[in-house]
Amino acid sequence: MAEPDKRRVWVAEESDLPAESGLAVTAGGRTIALFKVEGRCYAIDNACPHRGGPLAEGDLEGHVVHCPWHGWTWDVRTGTNPRQPASKVACFPVTVEDGSVFIDMESDPVTG
Ligand code: FES
Repeated sequence: MAEPDKRRVWVAEESDLPAESGLAVTAGGRTIALFKVEGRCYAIDNACPHRGGPLAEGDLEGHVVHCPWHGWTWDVRTGTNPRQPASKVACFPVTVEDGSVFIDMESDPVTG
């Protein structure tokens, strides 16, 4: 019998994701912000690189989340700041299977 994939962590049910903001979940000892845009799910670190604002509580505009504290913006697909592409927040691969959302925690996240 095959070993279960320990990198892949269940984090939520797809139906729990709100339409215009994110959902904060815990995986691998980190708090992750999950988003669903145009039917696809994305995962970035919940802590804004500026001063740690909770990105899951930010408003979504297309694929861009606005940090609720000072308004810095982050593309949930890549973790990049559209205004300063060299600035990034960690971004994790997401898979959805039968309505369950999983994050791959052992892939090297894109970090700033
Ligand atoms: S903490 Fe996010 S913009 Fe300042």
